[in-house]
Parts: sequence; structure tokens; C-alpha cells
Amino acid sequence: MESFQIRQAILNVCLDTQELTRQVANAIVQIAHKAIELNGQFVISLSGGKTPKSLYALLAQEEFAQQVCWEKVHLFWGDERCVPRDHVDSNYGMVFDALICQVRIPGENIHAPSRQADNPRESAIDYQDQLRQFFTLKENDLPAFDLVLLGLGLDGHTASIFPGEEAICQSKELVTAVYVEKFDAYRLTLTLPVINNARNVFFLVEGKDKAQILCQVLQGTTARYPAQMVAPKGHLVWWLDGQAAAQLDLKLMSPLVSRS
Ligand code: 6PG
Repeated sequence: MESFQIRQAILNVCLDTQELTRQVANAIVQIAHKAIELNGQFVISLSGGKTPKSLYALLAQEEFAQQVCWEKVHLFWGDERCVPRDHVDSNYGMVFDALICQVRIPGENIHAPSRQADNPRESAIDYQDQLRQFFTLKENDLPAFDLVLLGLGLDGHTASIFPGEEAICQSKELVTAVYVEKFDAYRLTLTLPVINNARNVFFLVEGKDKAQILCQVLQGTTARYPAQMVAPKGHLVWWLDGQAAAQLDLKLMSPLVSRS
């Protein structure tokens, strides 16, 4: 793995998907240990889509699962499609199959958006109430996740903050329901202020089909993508495989001495 600094972010460029998944799993375990030591719990917001599935499956394997005190881990979702939980597009369903059903995490630690697929706005309010209750938030407070996992869409979206939906970025809400025209479907998403209030944010980007958008997001001359608006108070780390990083001009970045 090679590590670089670009603006306020760290880029970790791994050889391939396998190294990427293992490196991220190790990093998550380390953050979990520190959070549990400091606060008695580890609160993570999970990303959806295809990329993180192998990560969740690896975390469920004995090699990693035994390193985590699951009864002190709380799972939230950064975004969810407004579909029933057993729907093939459900991010909850994907995480349940890859991770939740494999580890001994208490049911009360699973904080998934409700399944009111036919009433996205109600679901958003309900999920927002779950956040307010769990983090015991006062009116204008923001939840502080120990870690928010994010992916990058081919159009530069992240979570379910899509280009043209920048209103979500200034939202006073913690969660909003957004109609995504190209999918003709509603989604729920954490808003940008919540994401940017996290102690750690990890982007996971892999595969050659993400190389171009990643280069535009990280080294493009225009700031036009929601993923570029992620600038957390805490640490921002881009975890990449070699294929996704292929179009980046790494010479423009400051190399960091990496431990592996
Ligand atoms: C979702 C995600 C979304 C995802 C990107 C990348 O619900 O789809 O949260 O933001 O991370 O679209 O998706 P892939 O990993 O499938 O390429």
C-alpha cells in the first residue's frame, strides 16, 4: 500500500481489492478499539452499494470478528433505498447477509431506517428521530459518528447525495428523503453536515470504472460533485485499489511513509 496526502485527506492506494479490503478492515478494527476504549462504544455509519460487501464479509470472518466487541458496536446506515428490507436493492439486506447474521451483535444495536417504502418522508423523520434519540441530541446538535463509510458513484454522488441535490448539503435536517430521477426511486440519506461531523470518514473506491470520476473528484479543476463536499472535522481517508487510482497523477501528491 502507498499512502499520500492530498489537501486534508489521506490517500491509501492498495494493490488490489483483496489488499484494500484487508487494510480497511484492519483500520476499522483499530478505530473500534479506540472508540470503545474512550467512549464504551463504536458507532459506525455503513455505506451501501456493491463495493463494501466484501469488506463486511471479511469483518464477519473469525480473523476479524474475534477482534471486535460486537455488543459495543452500533450500526447505522449512511443511506438506504426506500424498498423493503428483503428487496435485492436494500442496503440493510446487503449488510444483514454479509455481516449481521454472522456476528453476535445485539438486535438493539442495529439502527436501520424503517421500512416504510411507501412513505419516504415518514421514514426520513423516523430515522432522524432514531439518531436524535441515540445521540441524545438537542435541537441544533449533530450526531458524531466514530466512522462514516462512503462510496463514490460514477456521477460523483456519495451516500445518496446526488449532483443537483446540493440542497441536502445545507440542510438543517439530519436525514432527508430524496427522489432520484434516474432510478425513479426514493432514497434516504444522511445529510452532509452529519457526514462532516464524523470523527473519521472513509471513502472506499475500487475498480477501473471509477478511475475517471475519482480523478475528477480528487484532481479535477471544478468542484461540482457531492463527494467533493465531504470535508469532515475529523480524518478523511480515501481507500483505493490500483485500478481506481490508475488515472490519478500521484506525483502531484505528497507521499507519506506508509507502514506497509
Ligand atoms: C448506495 C450507496 C452509494 C454507493 C455508490 C457506489 O446506496 O448505493 O450508498 O452512495 O456507495 O453509489 O456504489 P457501488 O459500490 O455499488 O459502486
